[in-house]
Amino acid sequence: MSSSKTDSFNPQRRAVIAGAIALSGTLAMPGLVFANTRQPTSTGSEKMDIARFVEDCVLANEETDAQAAVKEVLSRAVANPGAVLKAVGEPEKAGLNVFLSSPKLTIFAATWTPRMNLMPHDHLMWANIGIYTGREDNIFWKQTPEGLTAYGAEALFVKDAASLPNDAVHSVTNPLLRFTGGIHIYGGDFFGTTRTQWNPETLEQEPSDGTVIRGMFRRENERLGLN
Ligand SMILES: [Fe+2]
Repeated sequence: MSSSKTDSFNPQRRAVIAGAIALSGTLAMPGLVFANTRQPTSTGSEKMDIARFVEDCVLANEETDAQAAVKEVLSRAVANPGAVLKAVGEPEKAGLNVFLSSPKLTIFAATWTPRMNLMPHDHLMWANIGIYTGREDNIFWKQTPEGLTAYGAEALFVKDAASLPNDAVHSVTNPLLRFTGGIHIYGGDFFGTTRTQWNPETLEQEPSDGTVIRGMFRRENERLGLN
C-alpha cells in the first residue's frame, strides 16, 4: 500500500464522509446502561479518525489484493481498541453504525448485545472483521448436497482481525455477558445485495439483505427493551 495515502486526503471528501456518518445515526443512546455489561476494553489517549480510516480503506480497496490490503488497514485500527471506542462509543445496544456504503465497499461498526446470535448467512463478497471490544465467535458452514454443514469455528477477541472469502457462510455469536463491537468491511454493496440466510433450527434457506439484517438488530433491541 502507498505510505503517502493519508497525505492526499481530500478535505471535501472527508466532510462528505463525516456527514454520512452523522446521518447513519445508529450509535448507542447515551444514558442507557445494560447492567453489569459495560467494561471498557482499554483506555488510550488517541481517538480513531473515522473519516481517515474510511479513506484508507477506499484506497486499499484499489490494490491488487484488495481484501488483504483493506485487512491491513483494519488490523492497524483494532490494534488500538481504545481509540476505536473513543470514536464510536461504548456499545449499548445492537446496531450497525455505517461508515461507508458504496457499490465497491461497505464499512460499519456492528454492535452485539450480550449473548446475541446471528443465524448462518452468506455475503457473496469478501469480508474482513476486526474486534474492538468483546468477542465474536464464528461458526463456519459449508453447503453440501445434504444441506448446510458446520465445519469450523473461530473465536475473535479484541485486536483480532479475520478474513472471510467470497463464498463463506458463517453464524455469529457474542458469547459474553456484555456487549461486543466489531468493524465489518465488505468488498461490495452489503446492504443492497440479495443473499441467503439459513433458519437456525431447520437450516432452511431464506432470502436476506440489508433490510433483513437491520430488522434483526432492531428486534434484538426490542427484545431487550433497548429501543
Ligand atoms: Fe456475516
